[in-house]
Amino acid sequence: MIRQEQEVNLQEIRKFSHDFKFGSAVSAYQVEGPNPEPLTDWDIFLQQHPDIVSPNEIGPQWNIPGKAEADIQQMANLGLDMQRLEIPWWKIEKNEGSYDDQELQRYKDLVDFTRSQGMEVMATMNHFALPVWVAEQGGWESRKTVENFKKYAAFLAEKFSDIPYWITINEPQLVVNAGYLVGEFPPQKTSLPAMLKARHNIIKANKSAFDVFHSQLPDAEIGITNAMTWYEPRNPKSTKDKALTTLLNFIDHNNYLYATNNAVKFTGGNYFLGMDVEFDGKLQWVKMREDAEGIPGKIPLGHTVKPDTLPKNPQSDMGWPVAPQYFYDALMYMHNKFKKPIIVTENGIADRDDNMRSFYILTHLIAIHEAMKRGADVRAYLYWSTIDNLEWRDGYGPKFGLLALDQKTGERTLRKSAELYGRIASSKEIDIQMLSQEFLSNDQQQDLIVFLDQINNR
Ligand code: BGC
Repeated sequence: MIRQEQEVNLQEIRKFSHDFKFGSAVSAYQVEGPNPEPLTDWDIFLQQHPDIVSPNEIGPQWNIPGKAEADIQQMANLGLDMQRLEIPWWKIEKNEGSYDDQELQRYKDLVDFTRSQGMEVMATMNHFALPVWVAEQGGWESRKTVENFKKYAAFLAEKFSDIPYWITINEPQLVVNAGYLVGEFPPQKTSLPAMLKARHNIIKANKSAFDVFHSQLPDAEIGITNAMTWYEPRNPKSTKDKALTTLLNFIDHNNYLYATNNAVKFTGGNYFLGMDVEFDGKLQWVKMREDAEGIPGKIPLGHTVKPDTLPKNPQSDMGWPVAPQYFYDALMYMHNKFKKPIIVTENGIADRDDNMRSFYILTHLIAIHEAMKRGADVRAYLYWSTIDNLEWRDGYGPKFGLLALDQKTGERTLRKSAELYGRIASSKEIDIQMLSQEFLSNDQQQDLIVFLDQINNR
């Protein structure tokens, strides 16, 4: 079918249905860690890399009762409908087979509090960090982890039977690729057999947890979050660029979407950035990032480059290109291949000075709206993250939060872009002209027109 070229209409008001959910997300380790007495493999990793977190930096301290509640309350005040939290395995089951009642109560209180603020909870069972004892047994390379994870799932399903949305594992492909193939995450392995074993086990672990939940809590929505960094060919006419792009999308996430599709009720995606792929014929090993900027990276026979689709070249503080048009492509891929409800489980930008975040949120929500107009059944969008936090091996440098955290005093300030997000969430509509005039710079308004033109005519 040939689509008619459409004019950009800035006066358009894009409406979401009343039951579409807007929210924000955190993971436990990033807001509660690190732990001086190691509880997780990440504590050990960070102790081995003392340059990542400096001793005088404080994180959001969600381990202190009251801190998390105050932040969640700010999200509720913005008009958000959902909060994603992790109920961390490494706190609840610090030693194999023994569950910590006090910690359990802490998370129960947090869930109850979130609900008392009128928000739904989406709970993650595992977001990267593993309990030390699990890591010592071989982490995802060990079959025991599958069994132990299943037991943890049964425990959670029993104790938190009223949580309606569940994520089994966050970004399994990143855990596997970064941890066992590229060596950038714990356990820092660079071995293809180790990677394949970890992949096999993590997919099995998802299936067993899903089966447990499905039988114990048949009404719960349960899924996985996939890292959906999206690749497009640098030169759409080059067969080599196109072939490499398909391969990279497949290795990076699509194979996980297929492998877990029989054990999810919705397709979950975390989307942050998109890149172009260029064939160069070089036989090189995978390198996720070539420099401190985060990108580009190398892959066998090619490399990734920043897309030049938005003329003002917007990017995050980490150098990640802002590519909302590729988010639209990723959503349409998920929709066309799986035809399940989609939940955007993370989307956000590291932007300390908050110059780019309003543009980022606005354009990514428009991408979702456009995908929904064309049939994608997107049910919810969670901004990453609720508050500035520990960005794994990048330490506290990158600032993703709707809430800015002062790392000396622990004080929080709501960023201006959070106001834009709150306006959209509470009205369930995007008044493009009004919001862009109020929140975007002139350059961003120009990029917005280019973006609208791109997705209208995609
Ligand atoms: C992870 C988050 C992380 C974010 C930004 C996602 O891959 O789930 O933990 O903070 O990306 O890098």
